[in-house]
Amino acid sequence: MEIDVFTLFPEWFAWFTAQRHVGNALADGVRLACVNYREHTPLSAGQVDDTPFGGGAGMLLRVDVVESALRARYGVDPVELPRRRRVIALAPSGRLLDDALVDELAGEGALTLLCGRYEGFDERIVEHFASEEVSIGRYVLSGGELAAMVLCDALLRKRPGALGDERSSAEESFSASLGGDPEYPHYTRPAEHRGWRVPEVLLSGHHERIAQWRRERSRERAERLRGSVGR
Ligand code: ADE
Repeated sequence: MEIDVFTLFPEWFAWFTAQRHVGNALADGVRLACVNYREHTPLSAGQVDDTPFGGGAGMLLRVDVVESALRARYGVDPVELPRRRRVIALAPSGRLLDDALVDELAGEGALTLLCGRYEGFDERIVEHFASEEVSIGRYVLSGGELAAMVLCDALLRKRPGALGDERSSAEESFSASLGGDPEYPHYTRPAEHRGWRVPEVLLSGHHERIAQWRRERSRERAERLRGSVGR
């Protein structure tokens, strides 16, 4: 899998790629490259952004700058790109990232992630160069970089072998095998701490009862989540 991240802050990704699970994915054939918009700007003094027409706060990433960076990377008119690979603009108003979308993206051979900065993108970038907008939550970050890392982290842990145990990612929160529900609670040693006992069933060695207990706890958590939505 190839992931290209377009950003004004490629150095942020040095920390991310230095983490062991990311390093393992990179050693196992994932290629993650950063492209700095600023290195491709056709404007003087490294300008990449500008004030919004019609007024308003903040700065927007310019369409000519993003076009130039995409052209330099792929050697084609970037309006062609969404037909060749998924080009994702990270933006607070995009499709919310969830387990189903992560699964979908993990199946792609190549991804392009566009990080916005300041107030975000000139809308023509999204309209003409991107296949979609993706959000990691309904709040505004100062840029798409952390969102890109969240997306990559969620993708990379789906890769076979990434977690050292194939079952770990198959049966985790919101996966199809849990019917989209959150995962059940986990416990490890000691079996008792300050009088807080691990549920007896988990110590019973009775696989069916354990599986049933886990399904019930998972459903309970889903109920609780549904109850808290909108609060
Ligand atoms: N850029 C700024 N805020 C964002 C968010 N919540 N999700 C994705 N990209 C963003």
